[in-house]
Amino acid sequence: MSDMARSHIEKTIAPPMGLLAELTHRCPLQCPYCSNPVELERRGDEMTTADWQRILREAAALGVLQVHLSGGEPAARRDLVELVETCAHEGLYSNLITAGVNITPERLAALEAAGLDHVQLSFQGADDEVTEHVSGLRGAFDKKCAFASEVRALGLPLTLNVVLHRANIHQVDDFIALALELGAERLELAHAQYYGWALRNRGALMPQRHEVMTALRAVEAAQTRLKGQLAIDSVVPDYYAHFPKPCMNGWGQQTINITPSGLGLPCHAAQTIPGLEFWSAREHALFDIWHHSPAFNAFRGTDFLPETCQSCDRRDIDHGGCRCQALMMTGDARQMDPVCQHSPWHEEIQTLTLEEASRDEPFAYRRFARGERHA
Ligand code: FES
Repeated sequence: MSDMARSHIEKTIAPPMGLLAELTHRCPLQCPYCSNPVELERRGDEMTTADWQRILREAAALGVLQVHLSGGEPAARRDLVELVETCAHEGLYSNLITAGVNITPERLAALEAAGLDHVQLSFQGADDEVTEHVSGLRGAFDKKCAFASEVRALGLPLTLNVVLHRANIHQVDDFIALALELGAERLELAHAQYYGWALRNRGALMPQRHEVMTALRAVEAAQTRLKGQLAIDSVVPDYYAHFPKPCMNGWGQQTINITPSGLGLPCHAAQTIPGLEFWSAREHALFDIWHHSPAFNAFRGTDFLPETCQSCDRRDIDHGGCRCQALMMTGDARQMDPVCQHSPWHEEIQTLTLEEASRDEPFAYRRFARGERHA
C-alpha cells in the first residue's frame, strides 16, 4: 500500500471508542451460552502484564475512551489491580466485566483504590436454583449477591448483565426486582447470541416465541414504571426479529477486541470467518491493527453488501447486520444477515428457530481445558 493510501485511511477512520480486553479465557463458570470460541486460548499463551500495559497506553494514544476488562473471568489474572491502575493513569474509563464469584472484598477494595470506574456483574439466574443450573457452579448466586453489595458499599456504579434464554427467560420480572434490590443503576437483558460454544447449545437455549413476547412486554412495562430509577437495556433476540442487530455498531467502527494471546479482532467471533488475517498486538501497534490490519478492513463500511442492502434505508442503521451470522447461515460473510426480512434466507431462519425452540436438549456445559486451573 502506498504512503498516500495509508495516510488516507488514517485520516478517514475514526478511532475506536472501546477496547474489549479479553484478559483470559479462564473462567470458574460453565455457562452453555458462552460466546467465546470453541477452542479457548490457554493460560500459557496469555500476554504478560507488560504487554497489556503497553496495549492500554497505545489505546489511550489511539483515542480509546473505555476499556472493558473481560474474559473469561478477568479476575483470574493476578495482575488485574495493576491493569486497572494503568487504565486510570492513562485516563481510560475502566469497566470490569465479572462473574463476581472469585473477588474477595479486599481485592475489590484494591481495585476501587486503583481507580476502577464501573462494575458489570453477570447473573445467570434470579435465584439459587436457576443460577446453579445455568452456571454449573454451586453457591454462585449468593456469592454474586454478596459481591454486588460490596460493589455498592464502595460507591462503584453497578450494572447487572443477564443473558436470556429458555432456562431463565421466565425470570425477567425477578431480574428487575433483583437489580433494584442490589442497587444497580442499569440492567442489561441480552438474549443469547449463537456463536462459539453457544451455537452447540442452540437447541437447548432457544426460547419459544410466546416466551420472548412475554419477556419483552415485561421489560417495556418496567422501563416505563422505573424511569429515572433503573435503566433497562433490552434487545429483541435477532432470530425472532425482522431486522438484524447493528452488530458491533458496524465492523471496525467503534470497538477493538484483543484476545488473551494478543490477536486484534473486529468482533469476538471474527475468527470463525475463514481467510481473514488477524494481526497480533504482540507484533503490531494497536494503531496499525485498527487502521491497517486486513481483518479490520475486510468489512468496513457497507460497499461489500449485496444490492438489496445498498438501496435499503436501514443500511446505515444496521450495516447489513452481523458478518459472522451471515457466514454461519449462508456460507458467505458478505451476504446480508439472514435474520433480515429482506434476506432470501429469512424464511429458512424462521423455520430453524421454531425447530430449535421445540427441541428438548440438555446443556453442553463449557469447561475450561482439563488440567488448567481457572484462577
Ligand atoms: Fe462477528 Fe457480529 S459477531 S460481526
